[in-house]
Amino acid sequence: MISELIKQTAQYLVSARHAVALTGAGISVESGIPPFRGEGGLWEKYDPMEFAHINSFLKNPEKVWKIFMGDMKNVLMAAKPNDAHLGLARLERLGILKTIITQNVDGLHQMAGNTDVIEFHGNFAWLRCLKCNQRSKTIEVDLSDPPPKCACGGIFRPECVFFGEMIPPSALTRSQEESSRCDVMLVVGTSALVQPAAFMPVIARESGATVIEINPEPTPLTHRISTLFLAGKAGRVVNDILTEVERLIPSKTASC
Ligand code: OAD
Repeated sequence: MISELIKQTAQYLVSARHAVALTGAGISVESGIPPFRGEGGLWEKYDPMEFAHINSFLKNPEKVWKIFMGDMKNVLMAAKPNDAHLGLARLERLGILKTIITQNVDGLHQMAGNTDVIEFHGNFAWLRCLKCNQRSKTIEVDLSDPPPKCACGGIFRPECVFFGEMIPPSALTRSQEESSRCDVMLVVGTSALVQPAAFMPVIARESGATVIEINPEPTPLTHRISTLFLAGKAGRVVNDILTEVERLIPSKTASC
């Protein structure tokens, strides 16, 4: 049964002039990638300051590659988009969703078919040599004997943002622009605890947008910044929203 909140969300989306989404680790949980916080979260197992701070990585890249990335690389490289990623891609094809700002480094939005994805925290699909700055595709590098090395002998780092590093300036600027110009922002699967990403819904709301949050748990945004809060797992909620969107605009959906 379609709930009232799903109906309202679909209505906001089909009337939107410029909808964007902000996504976090929770959207990829149903693809088998663990989140950072909460039950089964990576930060329960690893101290982020020891394994995800740039100073720790530069001090001991072998340790970070062997332990933390050793665990994560197979999960990230095997993951496939789930219903939530596929649903957001369909919303783009329907002309509703214009851009995704993601904190995830898994590349699953692009794999699902979204064409404008701002990678706020980088992407694990690429590595960069600490010595010569050469970029290489992660799948083309031998990761079996960590730390992986470039042909020049330098150590590779993932092109992900570590704690203690700046957000790539172009990603930050575009995210701020998209957040201030959107009229609907879907916020999916983020704890909204890490800045500056967590500030994007605040910019959206202050600029007059409707902020719609999808998460099994409330966050600091819930009921303060978010206009609607849809409690549940991203896959099911996004599917329900799409069913209702397609009911509202049947002529458009036939050709997409
Ligand atoms: P978190 O791990 O902090 O939060 C994940 C959120 O997803 C939580 O609010 C969960 O309730 C929610 N969640 C869990 N399962 C879900 C599901 N099936 N569907 C929808 N939501 C679900 O992840 P982020 O907010 O993305 O930064 O974390 C932000 C940043 O903190 C990450 O990008 C990373 C981390 O430290 C860096 O590495 C720089």
